[in-house]
Amino acid sequence: MTLKNIILETIAPGIGIIKISRREALNALNTETLHEMKTALQDYAQNPEIRVVVLTGDGDKSFIAGADIAEMKDKSPDDGVIFSQLGHDVTKLLELMNKPTIAAVNGYALGGGTEMAIACDFILASDKAVFGQPEVGLGIIPGFGGTFRLAKYVGYPRAKELIYSGRRIKADEAYTIGLANHVYPAADFWTKVIELAQSISQQSFSAVSRTKQLMNEFSETSGLNFKLDAEAHAFGRLFGSADQKEGMGAFVEKRKPAFQGLKKE
Ligand code: CAA
Repeated sequence: MTLKNIILETIAPGIGIIKISRREALNALNTETLHEMKTALQDYAQNPEIRVVVLTGDGDKSFIAGADIAEMKDKSPDDGVIFSQLGHDVTKLLELMNKPTIAAVNGYALGGGTEMAIACDFILASDKAVFGQPEVGLGIIPGFGGTFRLAKYVGYPRAKELIYSGRRIKADEAYTIGLANHVYPAADFWTKVIELAQSISQQSFSAVSRTKQLMNEFSETSGLNFKLDAEAHAFGRLFGSADQKEGMGAFVEKRKPAFQGLKKE
């Protein structure tokens, strides 16, 4: 597959980097990018040279600014379900693959951006990182696993507050609430990310891999497919709503949305 939206790098032995590269849209995820991520993750899972996978964004402004709103704007409810399921395929690979996955969040991680980060084993943030789930301001819900994975990091009350309000948080708050394991100054960010990734890659791969599998089984992956399916259908159904048309139309037209209130789903 020719990769147009992601860059694969192995700048240190054993470390496979996936860099989302759509700078014109702040690395927002369209369908093509999600397919490329899926292929890259499947390849990394099979590649014996790769022991740790790092997900990041190209440029110094954005990790991933969410799913591509311009592409999603005119989707039907059925297409909304399919799009959510494609995002789920990618998050499942990040979460369940046989190798540790690290989100190196170098800037905006909004909506699907935070959701890709929380599907990884843990998050390292630069001091420029900004997290948030702004979907409700677009007339939709988080559709790449945020309705349950965010709570795994920050607990249900904080996850609910963040999702209901769409509030963005900076790296220091993300660290305080347990979303990011570490915050590093942007100037040292890559050195620190590679240092930690390498320290993991030098351990026994089979021990690390088995630990990941067990820790996943003991924690949040029970009922994963049920949760993903429920989320994909709830996400898709909102693509039939006036608020989704208004919310995404307003983003593309660079204005504030005027939502209609109750019972418009
Ligand atoms: N989709 C499509 N295009 C996007 C985008 C997105 N998610 N985020 C940014 N862009 C585009 C902008 O439209 C703009 O394009 P033009 O130059 O052609 O106008 C370009 O990237 C630069 O963006 P801004 O001019 O807005 O940059 P800014 O610095 O003023 O603001 C920002 C940065 C705060 C990240 C702002 O771009 C923003 O709010 N983006 C949207 C974030 C968002 O709502 N993400 C959630 C999407 S829904 C989702 O992810 C659903 C899900 O759960 C799967």
